[in-house]
Amino acid sequence: MKSAGDVGKDFDEYAKAWAEQKYELEVEGTVEGVVRAGTDAVQLPGDEWGDAKILRDSYAAMVDRLKLPSSVNVLEIGAGGGRSTAALLEVLGDRAGDYHVIDVADAFVDTLRGRVKRPLDIHIVSDVDVSMIDDSSLDLAIAQSSWSHINLYDQYRYLRDLRSKLKHRAPVVVSGLFIIGLADGWTWNRFRRRVYQIDHGISGVYHEFISVGMLAEMLARLGYEDVVIFAHGFTARRGKLVDDAFVPEFPKGIRYGYADNLTTWLKDGVATTAVLPPTAATAPAAGPAGSDQPLTLAEVKRTARRVAGRIKRRLR
Ligand SMILES: C[S@@+](CC[C@H](N)C(=O)[O-])C[C@H]1O[C@@H](n2cnc3c(N)ncnc32)[C@H](O)[C@@H]1O
Repeated sequence: MKSAGDVGKDFDEYAKAWAEQKYELEVEGTVEGVVRAGTDAVQLPGDEWGDAKILRDSYAAMVDRLKLPSSVNVLEIGAGGGRSTAALLEVLGDRAGDYHVIDVADAFVDTLRGRVKRPLDIHIVSDVDVSMIDDSSLDLAIAQSSWSHINLYDQYRYLRDLRSKLKHRAPVVVSGLFIIGLADGWTWNRFRRRVYQIDHGISGVYHEFISVGMLAEMLARLGYEDVVIFAHGFTARRGKLVDDAFVPEFPKGIRYGYADNLTTWLKDGVATTAVLPPTAATAPAAGPAGSDQPLTLAEVKRTARRVAGRIKRRLR
């Protein structure tokens, strides 16, 4: 686990070394790794992380899908060199209200300062801190390609503290997160790469991994609503401000929407409902733990008897 301040130092180093690295544009993520292409789209630090046009198209769809208001106060967490900031501001146009940026890498954010000419409220922090934002003032909190650099506990602290800063039902959009449990080869290979780095003492920018269950439970415990989880991120709306207190019982099922990817969901809004923990009523039949094998007839009968017994006991 790495602290926010230390991750910031890594990104500042990255920004300083950027010119020598001669990065090319990330055009695809395959299970083998990042596929890059040489184009003149990469001009400033951070441009290499993806085509700005794709981002702009995605943000235009997001504004519609999330029905953002006519004036949008934004908090962007981890704006870095401003690739995503510029794209979102371009899409919002006159609808952009106050625009806050929180980041941990001051030198990297210099690129943003040069890139975006309109006024921004930039806050450089070394730990999770949203205290400078007015209560119930935000219409959108967004994190583009930054959440995977934030350790699990800090992800929770941001989500916990953001609630009082968001207007009721305002959305959080996180794109760029390594979620385990969705059978995503890209993510799993990033995890394996991290293990390899640890085994061989190789340093590099810190990446965090989260399980789909952990993410769904975190959001549910914090009272977020309309949760949709994608292979590489999520959207959720601020719900009622529930206590962040010890809860002696597990909630009666955590529900969330699941959609393959953000782009498709932004277009069609279709998500499958998933429930945790999986129950007999919601889970597809599975073989013995850790196996893909179908159940034998005897196992099916045993399971059916167990479920019928449970139902009878409940009906008594
Ligand atoms: C990969 S860059 C993404 C920059 C930009 N959003 C983009 O899409 O090009 C990740 C950014 O997240 C910032 N970051 C990492 N940990 C953070 C934290 N705990 N709080 C705020 N920002 C953080 C880094 O300093 C860096 O600027």
